[in-house]
Amino acid sequence: MVENKAQADIALIGLAVMGQNLILNMADHGFSVAAYNRTVSRLDEFLSSAAKGTSVIGARSLPELVAVLKKPRRIMFMVKAGTAVDELIQELVPLLEAGDILIDGGNSLFTDTQRRCAELGAKGLLYIGSGVSGGEEGARRGPALMPGGDARAWPYIKDIFQAIAAKASDGEPCCDWVGQGGAGHYVKMAHNGIEYGDMQIICEAYHLMRDGLGMSSEEMQQTFSRWNSGPLDSYLIGITADILAVKDADGSPLVERVLDAAGQKGTGKWTGISSLDLGVPLTLISEAVYARYLSAQKEERLRAAEVLKGPESRSEAGREGLVTDLEQALLAAKIVSYAQGFMLLREAAREYKWELDYSAIASIWRAGCIIRSVFLNKIKEAYLSNPDLLNLFMDSFFRETLEKCQPAWRRVIVAAVQRGIPVPALSSALSFYDGYRCARLPANLLQAQRDYFGAHTYERVDRPRGEFFHSDWSNKGA
Ligand code: 6PG
Repeated sequence: MVENKAQADIALIGLAVMGQNLILNMADHGFSVAAYNRTVSRLDEFLSSAAKGTSVIGARSLPELVAVLKKPRRIMFMVKAGTAVDELIQELVPLLEAGDILIDGGNSLFTDTQRRCAELGAKGLLYIGSGVSGGEEGARRGPALMPGGDARAWPYIKDIFQAIAAKASDGEPCCDWVGQGGAGHYVKMAHNGIEYGDMQIICEAYHLMRDGLGMSSEEMQQTFSRWNSGPLDSYLIGITADILAVKDADGSPLVERVLDAAGQKGTGKWTGISSLDLGVPLTLISEAVYARYLSAQKEERLRAAEVLKGPESRSEAGREGLVTDLEQALLAAKIVSYAQGFMLLREAAREYKWELDYSAIASIWRAGCIIRSVFLNKIKEAYLSNPDLLNLFMDSFFRETLEKCQPAWRRVIVAAVQRGIPVPALSSALSFYDGYRCARLPANLLQAQRDYFGAHTYERVDRPRGEFFHSDWSNKGA
């Protein structure tokens, strides 16, 4: 019986479409993969359809799966994040021996990955939490992979991971070791937060064009297509152009038939929560999460739309100029979003003692993943030339681009505000930029207010930092 021999390079558990496609991708690259799914009928279906004629080995139980693996055993799973992962680990552990490797390829919360890494490490097992991005197509043709966890496992999975990963335009695999513990899943979470931000600013541009400038789907489709050959060239701009071209059965644009209530699985929210925990002003991504929440309150918005009034008329004047401005506004806001994303990574690295390589992270995101874009080459270069870069804004390319885009960006915000079109991400990005470059913010007044009502004390501009003062504000005496 061929199945009794330890012959498989790696096992994959969880045969939803991502899992199936990763297996086929690994098989294409010459790796022998053993597949397992709790519901056996799904395995049978896979073996008799997509995996037919490949070298994929089916296992009908976990002991059978473990028995066909070469040692150290490499077991990757693509199952729902949360308790399902812990339950699976519990079942697997008694079947494994020291040095075996477990790889969670789902969107697990990084703190769960930190915990699992420590718990399994104590048992001699090597745990990896890997971000896998790119959706179904990415999994099949080349995803971006962000592995982190127990570094001793990396040499054993590197070949497989880098072989199946997407390749950037210079041929580099979009996969590298990210760092210890939950670092891989943290970086994937930040990727998803950035994904939320990119999607939101694109939606705001679409909203302004559709309702503020009265543009048709065809006109917007052409605009996004054009943008996709400029500095905004990216997967998300490209799919937006594709979406706008799709017609419903009656010939009208299908996207206008889609209910405007956004869903989410939680990674954007986790990014926002982490930014609050770490004290990082991640305003754009957080606004993107809140915009999804507001959209989901469809019934309430419908009632409010009946009674709450906005501006009287919506002028379509200056449409062409504004569309040109919008491209620059999107680019500027995108710079802010990534600058904030990397600020978050820097703070997380400090807090969790990870040695993150920001240039390598940008490099991984250049292809395969949802936020892939030409723009990431510039981020890679910025951190490569200065690994200690304080903020992306300080890199000459990004600083000059912001300077160039800023008049158009401000005109877009004004136009949106005058027309009553909400642009929370585009405008909060501008506020952040203005705040970040402001040498004197009004927090002096805020500190005085805190000291007034709560004797919380304040520092003085004419005294060294760390000296605290209190004044009797109500009696006008210092
Ligand atoms: C990716 C995506 C993916 C994510 C979905 C859904 O990188 O391939 O980020 O991991 O789960 O895009 O995310 P939401 O349901 O939260 O929008």
